[in-house]
Amino acid sequence: METNIGTDHYELAADAAAELARRTGVERHDAAVVLGSGWAAAADDLGAVVADVELGDLPGFPAPTVVGHRNLARSVKVGDLAALVLGGRAHLYEGHAVHTVVHGVRTAIAAGCRTIILTNAAGGLNPTWPVGQPVLLCDQLNLTGTTPMVGPPPPDDKPARFVDLTEAYSPRLRALAMDVDPTLPEGIYAGLLGGAYETPAEIRMLQTMGADLVGMSTVLEAIAARHLGAELLGVSLVTNAAAGLSDEVLDHTDVLDAARDAGPRMVALLRGVLERL
Ligand code: HPA
Repeated sequence: METNIGTDHYELAADAAAELARRTGVERHDAAVVLGSGWAAAADDLGAVVADVELGDLPGFPAPTVVGHRNLARSVKVGDLAALVLGGRAHLYEGHAVHTVVHGVRTAIAAGCRTIILTNAAGGLNPTWPVGQPVLLCDQLNLTGTTPMVGPPPPDDKPARFVDLTEAYSPRLRALAMDVDPTLPEGIYAGLLGGAYETPAEIRMLQTMGADLVGMSTVLEAIAARHLGAELLGVSLVTNAAAGLSDEVLDHTDVLDAARDAGPRMVALLRGVLERL
């Protein structure tokens, strides 16, 4: 796996933000939504579309390779709010460096976003959650073995590393999401390198560690967002019971189907949150 150590990731994010502003005609965005596997449809109904940009046209963004992700940065107006919807994300398991994985979040923050909403598809470890259940993240386990704080210290105009992650997922934003949908449960998301689903033994290990959800994204972007002081909300959609907790064989197509079926509820939730920011 490459590490990208030695390049100025923050400068690359500033370049991408400048190009985004040029291509969308939107000088500053207020909030960004990163769409996880199967969440792509949400990009179509969040608000009034101002402009679309191919992610690959922005400096530092690789083209997404995962089915269910969309190669799109979309600028959307939700009331007075300028929202940036990132329809694709880079994952460690694609062989990307950690700094590439968090480049979307750093770019969104360089573009002005003070709020970052990370969404994902996840396996559920809580047996009471059905497929299609949205869950607010209240904390995370970063089990990827890496962090976006790796490499030389951040430049002088950025906060130092050793980021406080005590309340990484904003209590204020979680309360606001609960306002939109009071039935939402909260859970702890375990983020793994991925590339394969977990074994039943690994799921038992994760249960012992306190995880409620398991997936292959989000945790690194969350650290990068908090490092740069953005307010963070995380939403998982349970697309399957985690390995060994049901008789089902895990399959990416089923994950995408589950996410698509839950689409309208997810759009309503995201829209409701954006409207209340
Ligand atoms: N494990 C890891 N990642 C996932 C899963 C899972 O069960 N479902 C959706 N993404």
